[in-house]
Amino acid sequence: MSIEGQLELPDSAATEALGAALAPLLRSRPGGMIHLEGELGAGKTTLSRALLRALGVQGAVKSPTYTLVEPYETDGPKVLHLDLYRLLEPEELYGLGVLDEAPPAAWWLVEWPERGAGVLPAADLRLRLSHAGAARRLDWSVAPSLTDDPGWLRVRSCFESQ
Ligand SMILES: Nc1ncnc2c1ncn2[C@@H]1O[C@H](COP(=O)(O)OP(=O)(O)OP(=O)(O)O)[C@@H](O)[C@H]1O
Ligand SMILES: [Mg+2]
Repeated sequence: MSIEGQLELPDSAATEALGAALAPLLRSRPGGMIHLEGELGAGKTTLSRALLRALGVQGAVKSPTYTLVEPYETDGPKVLHLDLYRLLEPEELYGLGVLDEAPPAAWWLVEWPERGAGVLPAADLRLRLSHAGAARRLDWSVAPSLTDDPGWLRVRSCFESQ
């Protein structure tokens, strides 16, 4: 079974479709860690927003660029959406008061996870978006914590379809 791969996301709609396709994974367990890597404008928030909408979140889903973290009650698990771009050092995460809700207490969607290296919990699912002309490429990898998870087995075909 493949535990890493890549696919092309030709437009924003493809990024949104992939984000929404992850919803059953989040619904399958109370918490987990998703690292969303990629340069500025790669599509990390686009993917996160579509996933939150698919989990029933209504109203604005704004980028947590300045607040660093936005918590969401969904119709499934609790989700924390983080953007660590403005974190000055990984230790700042302790002061945010979010580590109490580390997985398995909630799902975390973390943009710029490399800014939290050493303090941020390890990823169950790592997604790296990169520019490919006007489109995007996605490199993904799944940690052993998820490879046999029923939720992952339900959604992995979306990652292997190309
Ligand atoms: N597959 C894609 N092909 C082309 N454009 C895309 C794709 N996915 C997302 N975009 C577009 O990229 C732009 C930037 O997206 P987004 O804000 O989600 O990036 P980001 O990675 O969160 O950036 P930042 O690091 O600033 O938070 C948006 O206009 C979005 O519509
Ligand atoms: Mg963003």
